[in-house]
Amino acid sequence: MCGIVAYVGHREACPVIIKGLKRLEYRGYDSAGIALMNGSLNVYKKKGKVADLEAALADVDTHGNIGIGHTRWATHGEPNDVNAHPHYSTSRNIAIIHNGIIENYASLKQLLIQKGHTFQSETDSEVFINLIEDIRVNNNCSLPEAVRLAMHEVVGAYAIVVLSKDTPNQLIAARKGSPLVVGIGKGEFFLASDATPIIEYTNEVVYLNDYELAVIHDGQLDIRTKEDVKKTPYVQTLEMALESIEKGGYEHFMLKEIFEQPKSILDSMRGRMIAENDHLMMAGVREFENKFQNADRIIIVACGTSWHAGLVAEYLFEDLARIPVEVEYASEFRYRNPIITEKDIVIAISQSGETADTLAALELAKSKGATIFGVCNVVGSSIARATDAGAYTHAGPEIGVASTKAFTAQVTVLTLIAMIIGKKRGTLETTKLRQLIAEMESIPSKVEKALQLNEQIIGISEVYKDATNFLYLGRGYNFPVALEGALKLKEISYIHAEGYPAAEMKHGPIALIDEQMPVVVIATKDSSYEKIVSNVQEVRARKGKVIAVVTEGDTTIPAMADHVIEIPETSEHLVPLLSVIPLQLLSYHIAVMRGCNVDQPRNLAKSVTVE
Ligand code: F6R
Repeated sequence: MCGIVAYVGHREACPVIIKGLKRLEYRGYDSAGIALMNGSLNVYKKKGKVADLEAALADVDTHGNIGIGHTRWATHGEPNDVNAHPHYSTSRNIAIIHNGIIENYASLKQLLIQKGHTFQSETDSEVFINLIEDIRVNNNCSLPEAVRLAMHEVVGAYAIVVLSKDTPNQLIAARKGSPLVVGIGKGEFFLASDATPIIEYTNEVVYLNDYELAVIHDGQLDIRTKEDVKKTPYVQTLEMALESIEKGGYEHFMLKEIFEQPKSILDSMRGRMIAENDHLMMAGVREFENKFQNADRIIIVACGTSWHAGLVAEYLFEDLARIPVEVEYASEFRYRNPIITEKDIVIAISQSGETADTLAALELAKSKGATIFGVCNVVGSSIARATDAGAYTHAGPEIGVASTKAFTAQVTVLTLIAMIIGKKRGTLETTKLRQLIAEMESIPSKVEKALQLNEQIIGISEVYKDATNFLYLGRGYNFPVALEGALKLKEISYIHAEGYPAAEMKHGPIALIDEQMPVVVIATKDSSYEKIVSNVQEVRARKGKVIAVVTEGDTTIPAMADHVIEIPETSEHLVPLLSVIPLQLLSYHIAVMRGCNVDQPRNLAKSVTVE
């Protein structure tokens, strides 16, 4: 987590960095800070949002063309002014911004204290900058060399940028495990955790690899490994549009992203499906078609919402391709000595492509010889680069911390993969495949229709905005959707919510139901419809308030429910793409009505780069 931005060039550094930090605020918003060469090397930092830092800078002469900035998601040390980045070294000659965790910081700190270094904060980052200073003084070497040598001493994850009073035209950056992008403009350079702060100025970027060091000095970019081997920068041209990272008239990014779903779903299937001749095409899958065909098992590793998309994929792969699937929390999988063979395919699902646990889980599976396939949204991300092959979801940048369009894009891509493998394995017959392709094509317009429920859902949100608990129930393909609906509500409105398979309710959670309990039941017309009708009756019998998501035209469940949300009819395999929409809207409106910051919910960060 944490977002870092740095600039050197002909512009005023401060506004570029502040604007960049605002774009990266989704990565953490406990505190923000900036170091500028405005006369000397000065650090300004503040607990709270980037806007608080901006206000604190109002009376400061920020004039200068080089600087480094940081927005923090606290790991070591509580969120306060002192623990905010940047951090000076003891001499105050150099300053650092850091994203990641230095695991051996405590032992390094002891050593540095013995050598006379002093510390202001509780952070591991201040240890890193003092280590660099210590190496520089003891070895009488240049600052880039000291950073390179320090990379050999620290254990953990980092993306850092260092600025020195003595070399006021130089930025030094390094990475291991946390993302870092270099933007190359005309006579100017940018460094950032992702491309969003850069895209406004240039679309030429270089993604740093692990254990690489970048030195920007006198208009030159020099990249070398921590073993001091010079690398030729691999410059990529980004296609990201500026509008895609702005709110475009919506009150929140989350709402914009919910409403973008007809387009993002279409983008995620674009060019991958031709209905007329039931042709399905995905370069990454084609590369490993035989592996998929002969796989003993598919293991899906992911976290949070991406894990829910993985659960939908479990139903899809088993149903359409008849391959056994296990869906694992990446954080559990990586630490439980799992049995993995060379005939396993491991699919890592991640919006950001930077989630530390997912990355570690796939590295573990790779070391055991499994084939690793990635389903990521962020192009060039660490997970995308660590896989053997993969498919991007093409949902566009997702800025709201609560994942919405990334989920539906993941489910779309996973559905296509299941169809491709099912076709190849002969488990998905042509007529059914054709029907599914035709239905897939109609999904964007059906999502559009589901979005028209917005006004109705505002009304339902009014009724339940003060509830203290919610239950979400679903069966089959709608069970993961129930989990996702509950996660969305709790993360942005801070209302306790639980998602459950509807039939499991009577094994415990039914005890929670009384007249105060809103129960969202996803009860679309599918193979478990009759069963879920009984579950709704069980809730009614205990006086629970039923908010039912049903298929258009249903008359049975509406007769039993307090509120009915009708979504368009579709195939059972595709229903999560529609049934999740009202649940996203419900959580959004309830959170707004409760005065919560939906785009930046407390304690959360968009990209979880710590385990
Ligand atoms: C919930 C949410 C998180 C992420 C999780 C994994 O709305 O956004 O649960 O889904 O942190 O993140 P990625 O997909 O980036 O690996």
